[in-house]
Amino acid sequence: MEIIKEIELMQGLSEKWRRDGDIICLVATMGFLHQGHIELLRVGRENGDRLIMSIFVNPIQFGPQEDYKRYPRDAEGDLDKARSCGVDAVFMPTVEEMYPDGFQSTVRVEEITEYLCGRSRPGHFAGVTTVVAKLFNITRPHLAIFGEKDYQQLIVIKRMVRDLSMDIEIIEVPTVREKDGLAISSRNSYLTPEERSSALSLKKGLDLAKAMVAEGEKDPAEIKDAVRELILSHPSTEIDYIAICDPEELTDIGIIDRPSLFALAVRVGKARLIDNVIVREN
Ligand code: PAJ
Repeated sequence: MEIIKEIELMQGLSEKWRRDGDIICLVATMGFLHQGHIELLRVGRENGDRLIMSIFVNPIQFGPQEDYKRYPRDAEGDLDKARSCGVDAVFMPTVEEMYPDGFQSTVRVEEITEYLCGRSRPGHFAGVTTVVAKLFNITRPHLAIFGEKDYQQLIVIKRMVRDLSMDIEIIEVPTVREKDGLAISSRNSYLTPEERSSALSLKKGLDLAKAMVAEGEKDPAEIKDAVRELILSHPSTEIDYIAICDPEELTDIGIIDRPSLFALAVRVGKARLIDNVIVREN
């Protein structure tokens, strides 16, 4: 497995693989790998001839009050996991390599980044699209794999690829969960044991929303109220948003008469957790 820190070397290797006719697949991560990332790597291994994983905790997608400094890191553990997943190359640049002095460009998707997480994390998605566009230019993939856990991120990236005619196929992977249903996230490591139980309220909220819609409830307000009450009955929870919206445009919907995205963000102790599900009538 190659471990590459320089942009030019990564571009050179990808170029060589492309000339050899290999299909290149990228899994972009911020490291501290867990079963969610491992599943993306498995899908990547299955779909490409050459699998590249990037590890880069991207400072420009974190707000000034967010957890950039304390974001969990484990480079050695990540490299071991990458090796056992059959990764061909790990691209792990420094911040200076990605954002040298004088860096002043941004890739920004407009409307769909204003809702949901975009509301409470201004600038976050511009940071994501800028780094992902850069990673695409550096690793030159044919395919790139993203998780449905970060649903808004996934559709923002799909929109960027479509709008900017990037010749890359985006593959989506369903959310990987713990046995009890909690969506796996690097940020779960912030939770104390009591908060860990409260964190389960997100999944319980999704299940409740799903069941209410399946049984014919069409009023988003009724569903949001019920889920809010359920989540707040757990200690140390603070709701950032509960939304029912169009799965592509992310605009609120007045009545649930088609498959809709149910998404939520909840603070549990120090962790801000997100989860989502598509709800539809049975
Ligand atoms: P990170 O949070 O490390 O996630 C990397 C990829 O793993 C994303 O596509 C994310 O959706 C996926 N993922 C995380 N948890 C998952 C789970 N439980 N099930 C399935 N997939 C899961 O997302 C980022 O990094 C960054 O924003 C990045 C795209 C790398 C840009 O910096």
